[in-house]
Amino acid sequence: MKAILIGFMGSGKTTIGKLLAHQLALPHIDLDDQIIAAAGCPITNIFEQHGEDYFRQLEHQLLLETLTRDGVLSTGGGTPAQATNLQVLQETATPVILLEAAADTILERVHNNHDRPLVNSLTKTDLVSLKDARRSQYHTCADLIIQTDGLSPQTIVKRILSFLKQK
Ligand code: S3P
Repeated sequence: MKAILIGFMGSGKTTIGKLLAHQLALPHIDLDDQIIAAAGCPITNIFEQHGEDYFRQLEHQLLLETLTRDGVLSTGGGTPAQATNLQVLQETATPVILLEAAADTILERVHNNHDRPLVNSLTKTDLVSLKDARRSQYHTCADLIIQTDGLSPQTIVKRILSFLKQK
């Protein structure tokens, strides 16, 4: 893997991951999509029918599998929040890039999206608390942190590319 993007839901991991992969002429791999393909149903159904623990097991297994592949990986917002994943992300030689965004920006982006079980089940206040609670895990494994508020996707990708060049 050339780069791993982490960050809370709605921080832009998928959008930036796709653009970055395009610039690097590499495949873009979205961990959520891998989980959906493996389970054969959407994430909300996995949570409803099998529970979050089952989702987290699949997430861990597929994180390990995808890390052996070439490309740019966009993780799920909760990936670094699991201790086993955090360790993997801390130990990998692949640069881990954290995309940060203000709580208002995040809430605005995820508000009307019903594909995210945690957005469906948590209040706005709980989502902001979850974001705060995950902050230290995100920071523990990040090699580069980008405050994305006010930056265009192109500018964010340029910053990542220049960071990767120095590596
Ligand atoms: C989750 C984030 C989602 C997805 C699942 C759980 C989380 O990914 O993995 O709904 O725990 O924050 P995105 O960050 O791509 O929305």
